[in-house]
Amino acid sequence: MNALRAQDLDAIGRRARSLLDARFDQLADRAEFDVMAEVAAPLSVAVISDLLGVDEPDVDSFVSISDAIMRSMDAGLDPAVAEPGRMARRELSALVESWFRTSGRPGLLSHVREHAKGSSDTDLDLYVRNTARVMFQGGYSTMVAAVGNAVHTLLRHPNALDRMRDSAVLRTGVDELVRFDGPVQGTSRIATAPVEVGGVTVNTGETVLILFAAANHDPAQFADPEQLLLDRLPNRHLGYGWGTHSCIGTVAAQTTLRALISSLLENPTRLHAASPPVRRNTATMRAFDLLPATFCP
Ligand code: HEM
Repeated sequence: MNALRAQDLDAIGRRARSLLDARFDQLADRAEFDVMAEVAAPLSVAVISDLLGVDEPDVDSFVSISDAIMRSMDAGLDPAVAEPGRMARRELSALVESWFRTSGRPGLLSHVREHAKGSSDTDLDLYVRNTARVMFQGGYSTMVAAVGNAVHTLLRHPNALDRMRDSAVLRTGVDELVRFDGPVQGTSRIATAPVEVGGVTVNTGETVLILFAAANHDPAQFADPEQLLLDRLPNRHLGYGWGTHSCIGTVAAQTTLRALISSLLENPTRLHAASPPVRRNTATMRAFDLLPATFCP
C-alpha cells in the first residue's frame, strides 16, 4: 500500500489521456472499429504497466492469457474453463518472473524492491510476486471491462458525455458509470462467525455469494436505480467492493475513466455505435467481446 500511495497517479492519468488522444486520431477515419480490442485493451495494458513499472507485454498475447483467467472465474458454472485458466495462470507467472529478472521502470514494483533491499525473507518475495500477479491481472481485466461498459453506456445515453464537461459531474459521473454497469458482478466470502443477514442465519464456514451488481441496482439504496444519474450523490455503490478487501486500484481506475471521458469530450467528432455489440458470455465479470463504433461529426 505504501508503494501504491507513492505512485504519481496524475502522471499516469496524463499518459492515459495522451495515449487515448493519439489512438482516437488513428481511428478517426475508420468506418468501424472494435472499442474493446483497439481502445480498451491497449489503454488498460498501458495503465497497469505504468502503475507497476513494468515493460508493457505484447497486448494480444496478454489479452488471451487474461481472458482465459477471467473465464475460469466461472469454473463453478462451467468446469471446462478451469484447465485453460490454470494454464494461463502459469503463463502469467512466467511473465511476472521476467519482471523480477530485469531492473524495470520506475513504479510500484521498483518501490517495493528498493524498500525491501537486504531482506532475505523469501515469504515477502512470494507475497510481492503474488500481489504483482493479482494487480496486473485483476487490474487489467476489470479496467478493460469497465472501459467497454462505460463507452457502451455513453453510446446509449447520447447527452451523458456533454454533461461531464462540468468537472464536478465528471468526478461523480465516472462512479455512476461503474454503479450503473460495473464489470465485477459478485464475489464470495466465508463466514468466520455466525451472522444474521436479512433474516437468514449464516453459520461459521459457510460461503456467501455476494452480488455487487444486484446491490448496485437496489431501489432501497438508490433512487431510480435504472436511471443513469451522473451527479448521483451519495453513491455508496459496491462496484469496487467494500471494506477491508475493497479495490486498491479504485483511484487509478477513476483516473483512467476520467482520462477516457475527457479525451472523448475534446475529440472534434463524436463516437457512435456501429454494428450491434456482443456481450461476453461470463457470469462473474460483465464485459463485451465486441463493441463496434465509429467517429462521425
Ligand atoms: C474500473 C476498474 C476496477 C474495478 C471495477 C475493480 C473492482 C474490484 C472489486 C469489486 C474488487 C473486490 C472487492 C471485494 O472483494 O470486496 C477488487 C479488488 C481488487 N482490485 Fe480492483 N477494480 C478495478 C481496477 C483495479 C486496478 C486498476 C487495480 C490495480 C492496479 C486493482 C487491484 C485490485 C486488487 C489488488 C484487489 C484485491 C484487494 C484485496 O483483496 O484486498 N483493481 N477490485
